[in-house]
Amino acid sequence: MQSGKRQPEFRLTVFLIINAFEFYILTGLARNVKHNYYRMKIITYENIEEAAACLRNGGLVAFPTETVYGLGANALNPMAVARIFEAKKRPAFDPLIVHISDISQLKSLYAQPVDSLVYKLAERFMPGPLTIVHRKSDIVPGLVTSDMDTVAVRMPAHPLAQKLIALAGVPVAAPSANLFGQLSPTSHKHVAKQGMEIDYLLAGDDKENMVGIESTVVLVANGICTVLRPGVITATDIESAIPELKVEVAQHNTNLSSPGLLDSHYSPRKPLYFTENLNLGALPEGSGLILHEKNEQHTNAVSVVYTSENLNLLEVAAHLFESLHQMEDNEAVKQIFIAKVPENGVGLSVMDRLKKATYQYKK
Ligand code: TXA
Ligand code: MG
Repeated sequence: MQSGKRQPEFRLTVFLIINAFEFYILTGLARNVKHNYYRMKIITYENIEEAAACLRNGGLVAFPTETVYGLGANALNPMAVARIFEAKKRPAFDPLIVHISDISQLKSLYAQPVDSLVYKLAERFMPGPLTIVHRKSDIVPGLVTSDMDTVAVRMPAHPLAQKLIALAGVPVAAPSANLFGQLSPTSHKHVAKQGMEIDYLLAGDDKENMVGIESTVVLVANGICTVLRPGVITATDIESAIPELKVEVAQHNTNLSSPGLLDSHYSPRKPLYFTENLNLGALPEGSGLILHEKNEQHTNAVSVVYTSENLNLLEVAAHLFESLHQMEDNEAVKQIFIAKVPENGVGLSVMDRLKKATYQYKK
């Protein structure tokens, strides 16, 4: 308990020093493990058992969820987890979410006693796009949690994700299936184009039930629920579902309780700017334009993509990464302009992703 009271920055530094050695040994070993698997074999539902066996045996499988594709490994096998960091080029200070297929798995991942609020949240929002961070049990390796004493757990609603995790018979650690800092993938094609060294890609695009942006991450501690990363389940949704729960929203960069929350993230490989105050008829040559409602204004953009026709924020979220991937893949587009959305409700989560995606191009 003592360590929980130390400054998160201090604990992270200690983690980085002590575990750097272990991490490099593990990733080195992981790189040399000879798998009998194909390099990114793309499969569908018919071959799901192959992919589940691969996960069980320490391999890497990218799989669809209702938010974004995940890059999964057996969460209880540190060597398999090390391969995720290796494949994504992800720094070790960024902890992973553990995915389950049944609420009964929560019990073994969280330390006892589990706060009853965790179960209330789980009953209401799982399966779905909510990740609950709570004190971890001893079975969760430090590599999964960046050596913090908490673990993030989520149960995806996508039937293929549930089936894969259930067949694997182990909890599955999975970040989004993209190279570190790049756009999150919402289709198997977005995963395939990253060219990561993974064993299987389970394809299962489900446009109809797509949430499109990463899960809401909440920390439950001392009877308080703190939103660490906004998503389509909003603080208001949680408060109205469980009125006795006090929900707070973590202030940006005031602490490192969710160290993966960097300023720059989710970026396309081309410059991305907001359209604010710009004349859409006089954009620089080779501009791609992403809008969230129909616009009759003249534009000289070489490509225009709409995430929604009427600023429906759930639609905007569902199509956000897809629209950015389209622009990234379009050779005629040299730079991308995207409109802002109002920062309320789901709009907060959309703007959270867009501020990070545009961060490195801010003047
Ligand atoms: O929708 C999603 O959450 C997707 C799909 C694949 O499930 N996953 C995802 O993973 O977005 P990733 O690795 O891109 O983001 C995980 C987030 C990071 O912001 C990380 O800092 C936070 O969860 N996180 C993980 N474990 C944590 C912990 N123990 N304490 C605080 N934050 C944690
Ligand atoms: Mg990610």
